[in-house]
Amino acid sequence: MIFTVAIDGPAAAGKGTISRAVAARFGFRHLDTGLLYRAVGALGGDPVAAARALSPEDLARDDLRTLEAGQAASRVAAIPEVRAALLDFQRRFARSEGGAVLDGRDIGTVICPEAEVKLFVTASPQVRAHRRWLEVGGDAAQVLAEVLERDARDMGRAEAPLRAAADAVVIDTSALGIDEAVEAACAVVAQRLPRTR
Ligand code: CDP
Ligand code: CDP
Repeated sequence: MIFTVAIDGPAAAGKGTISRAVAARFGFRHLDTGLLYRAVGALGGDPVAAARALSPEDLARDDLRTLEAGQAASRVAAIPEVRAALLDFQRRFARSEGGAVLDGRDIGTVICPEAEVKLFVTASPQVRAHRRWLEVGGDAAQVLAEVLERDARDMGRAEAPLRAAADAVVIDTSALGIDEAVEAACAVVAQRLPRTR
């Protein structure tokens, strides 16, 4: 069975949490596409060359989750050649046998416009910044500023800007606990699955 769940949305909206839960519930594979851009940013040097030579070991670094790595990711993610170098891998993953969940910014719009399920997971900037602050600590005002800066760059770029696909189901997690958000997402997936399963 080929079945793609595309999950897009802004920073710290809950995409990863929902993606992992959906993948576990339905036995699908999961790809956190943000890690690809974080790894390219963290490698330094020429980002286009880094994207073309990216290997699985590059995704296993322990410094990819920091705010700085997020900023570096969003800068290299605006480069069209970087996005082009990562496209085939993501498309093959999306359409691989057995079902796949991909989360990022452009999965439903660019990587897999034919995805069987498209979710746009969002929340208010204040809620998202608070969640990220609980993870990374530090100065809360600076965490909010970094989230807003990254969102503006991701939405404002010319290539594959962050936006909801016209046929995406929007899940606003501002007032939802993790379990409620996961159930909302799983309900959409269950409804779209082929009946023969
Ligand atoms: O992948 P993304 O950056 O969109 O977000 P995430 O890493 O899944 O979630 C960011 C943080 O918010 C995590 O610590 C989650 O546990 C938390 N979260 C939450 O408090 N409520 C939700 N409904 C979803 C996520
Ligand atoms: O977890 P969080 O939502 O904070 O970030 P992420 O998903 O790890 O993505 C880091 C950065 O990579 C984003 O701010 C985007 O600039 C970029 N990205 C992208 O352009 N396209 C994707 N499909 C995934 C991430």
